[in-house]
Amino acid sequence: MWLTQALATCVAVAARVQLAAAQASSSADAASTNSSGRPGAEFGQTSPPFYPSPWMDGSGTWGEAYEKAQDFVSQMTLLEKVNLTTGVGWMSEGCVGNVGSVPRLGLHSLCLEDGPLGIRSTDYNSAFPAGGTVGASWDRGVWYERGYQMGMEFRGKGIDIQLGPAIGPLGRMPEGGRNWEGFSPDPYLSGVAVAQTVKGIQDAGVIATTKHYIMNEQEHFRQAPEAVDYGYNISESLSSNIDDTTLHETYLWPFADAVRAGTGAIMCSYNQINNSYGCQNSHLMNYILKGELGFQGFVMSDWQAQHSGVGSALAGLDMSMPGDTLFNTGNTFWGTNLTLSVLNGTVPEWRLDDMATRIMAAYYFVGRDRTSIPANFNAWTLDTMGFEHPAAEADYGLVNQHVDVRANHARTIREHAARSTVLMKNSGVLPLSGEEKFTAVFGDNAGANPKGPNGCDDRGCDNGTLAMAWGSGTANFPYLVTPLTAIQNEVLGNGGIIQGMTDNFAYDEMTALASQSSVSIVFVSADSGEGFISVDGNEGDRKNLTLWQGGEEMIDTVTSQCNNTIVVIQSTGPVLLGSFNDNPNVTALLWMGLAGEQAGNSIADVLYGRVNPGGKLPFTFGAERSDWGTNVLYEPNNGLGAPQQQFTEGNFIDYRAFDRAGIDPTYEFGFGLSYTTFEYSDLTVTKHDVGPYAPTTGETAPAPVLGNDSDTDPADLVFPDDIRRLPLYIYPYLNSTDLEASSGEEEYGTADEDAYIPPGARDGGAQPRIPAGGAPGGNPLLYDVMFTVRATVSNTGPRVGEEVPQLYVSLGGDAPPRVLRGFDRLSIQPGRSATFVADLTRRDVSNWDTVSQNWVITDAPKTVFVGPSSRDLPLSQELDVSV
Ligand code: NOJ
Repeated sequence: MWLTQALATCVAVAARVQLAAAQASSSADAASTNSSGRPGAEFGQTSPPFYPSPWMDGSGTWGEAYEKAQDFVSQMTLLEKVNLTTGVGWMSEGCVGNVGSVPRLGLHSLCLEDGPLGIRSTDYNSAFPAGGTVGASWDRGVWYERGYQMGMEFRGKGIDIQLGPAIGPLGRMPEGGRNWEGFSPDPYLSGVAVAQTVKGIQDAGVIATTKHYIMNEQEHFRQAPEAVDYGYNISESLSSNIDDTTLHETYLWPFADAVRAGTGAIMCSYNQINNSYGCQNSHLMNYILKGELGFQGFVMSDWQAQHSGVGSALAGLDMSMPGDTLFNTGNTFWGTNLTLSVLNGTVPEWRLDDMATRIMAAYYFVGRDRTSIPANFNAWTLDTMGFEHPAAEADYGLVNQHVDVRANHARTIREHAARSTVLMKNSGVLPLSGEEKFTAVFGDNAGANPKGPNGCDDRGCDNGTLAMAWGSGTANFPYLVTPLTAIQNEVLGNGGIIQGMTDNFAYDEMTALASQSSVSIVFVSADSGEGFISVDGNEGDRKNLTLWQGGEEMIDTVTSQCNNTIVVIQSTGPVLLGSFNDNPNVTALLWMGLAGEQAGNSIADVLYGRVNPGGKLPFTFGAERSDWGTNVLYEPNNGLGAPQQQFTEGNFIDYRAFDRAGIDPTYEFGFGLSYTTFEYSDLTVTKHDVGPYAPTTGETAPAPVLGNDSDTDPADLVFPDDIRRLPLYIYPYLNSTDLEASSGEEEYGTADEDAYIPPGARDGGAQPRIPAGGAPGGNPLLYDVMFTVRATVSNTGPRVGEEVPQLYVSLGGDAPPRVLRGFDRLSIQPGRSATFVADLTRRDVSNWDTVSQNWVITDAPKTVFVGPSSRDLPLSQELDVSV
């Protein structure tokens, strides 16, 4: 047996000429402030080059995995290493992504599958609440457990690499189509949530992929071909233009936490960052991710986000997904071209070794070598029988074993979604007793999708209860408990009367029903998703922040007849509440996000008081769309060139923008009511002696060269005669013993390498260490605990309840008025108190300094605040940050 079946033909993109794009920019400065010195970014901003690509060194807790990986890679041939780094092509195997196998060493084709809330495109799996929903739990236990249970499901299906969690988009704009896949626009909250999720997934023995790196904040123009399909005339993907401070303090922050938590993989994004594509941006991948953050795992491309071969390899990409240049072309940037590039020296052997080592290290790090479940599903069909290689329509047979991996996860899914529900308004009507005389439930969102819960591909519609949004970040529902079903079960159990109507536009019938009810519960929604699907003209990103399907009119109609109307919002983010928030007939208002398969039961648990709500908003509800100060770029602004998205607001997104502008939010970040009440007292701050901060110094070891590459005779690297070639399949083999012919490039070998290869890119010698680096997550001294903050939280109401005390710090100077830096979720009995304890690290009280390229504690006075939300902070104290 030799490598997986091969097809190395059609290498349209030649090995040597792929570099130009990777060198998109060469600004001598580190990307710091723009030329005016202000934070924010400017049109056409550039990204400085950084080479060589840092090689893995086993730092942090990666030592053992590194050794095992080195041992494995030492035995690999050139072709085997290339095969490990290159996807086999879209739909060529059974998962959404697969790399080539290495049968000689017993390594199967690694299976990569979406996504962040459960397994996509299969059956007998769970549909967990979305990331942006559990973000509202502010509960480390929820995040870890959800991660672990998802991981167990991926493991059970034989998946090696889960394509989640997502923390990019972070949520710069509330309309951002994929915000719901991540946790929160607050970097700190998002960072804690992603770290717990990564640990959970990986403790289950599956590699987590933290994505999308980085500033993939909108769907419009994320990929030029997709935009062209929508009728826009552009030839390059959007560029997110940002300054160095905002990059570090906002968008990179949670990625640092994911790296520190050990994420095995990172997916680079479709968009450009400062006019250099995410998957060939040497500043972002080499300098920031692998250098400064000390990332030890591997970087994979998003699907079709790779734009060059040699360029991306030298800029730090480690795995090409799905392996073909564009889906089903049979062409590849890597595969044959990577083999050629190593043979002709444009990509140094140590770089290929590093790619393979990083992939295998992640494999060992999570214990894939101790898991023996082969992939037992097929992402391209739910049928039992199908093609093993669908793109080639080859090998028909058993492809789906329909393995039920759900275990008892339904119970925690129900609990997690209920714990993530946020009560925003309550006149006292909640919790319901269950003995209401006549309950009426309104809204298409209360009921079932007439086409079934999975009736719309990748959930690309807004029919029926909205328990996940659309795109690759979806899973098939095993079932979907609707709110109407769950509330009906509740009411019938108590012998009451319940009537539901799910036609949002039948105003006469709505009026009639509302006038009879003693309580009306109205379900409304706002949906969004990934850019490859457009729903009702929303091309991924939302067009506006209003409710969908006439939600406002429905609430108006019901409240005109019923003075006890409870409104429940299912949405991917904030919506404008202005038309009904102050309406006295709206007696309660809840946000339940996208709750997953148990949606109805979860909301019923809260409505009927089995769960006392303790969720807090992970974003701000504002009154006007303009209040956020940021917006999706809906029209190209750079001719045919890359649309330029300016992150001119710097760190001021979500509550930080409202706080700076002094705008009153409708419901602020961190807000959430309970059926009991809490009081805060006794703030104490204990300072710890941590000593001064020291930048990391010295040099790395030289790049190790591990591979068994001695056989470089092209005659041994061409496609073997005894292997079947599958159409469209991507292979590592040469097309010909003549390298020029193999490349398919007319001008092969004539290019002036110095013009194409960035200076230093092939230098495998010892390199200076990066001052803010030193270990996974950055300089270890950043994580020294400088302060321990304590406060007393008392339950002053009638019920046991859960409260999330929040700690904010004012860092002074130009920084946002307050940034979240700690929280916990405490369960407190009525009449009792609990102590909130939170540690503040050096990183927590530092700002990014563009000149020293490091974190510094500025001289500006700093204050710590504690309270129940970002706008309700009764306790405060100055921080003495001197060391
Ligand atoms: C593109 C999406 O952006 C990414 O999140 C997903 O993992 C891949 N497609 C694979 O489906």
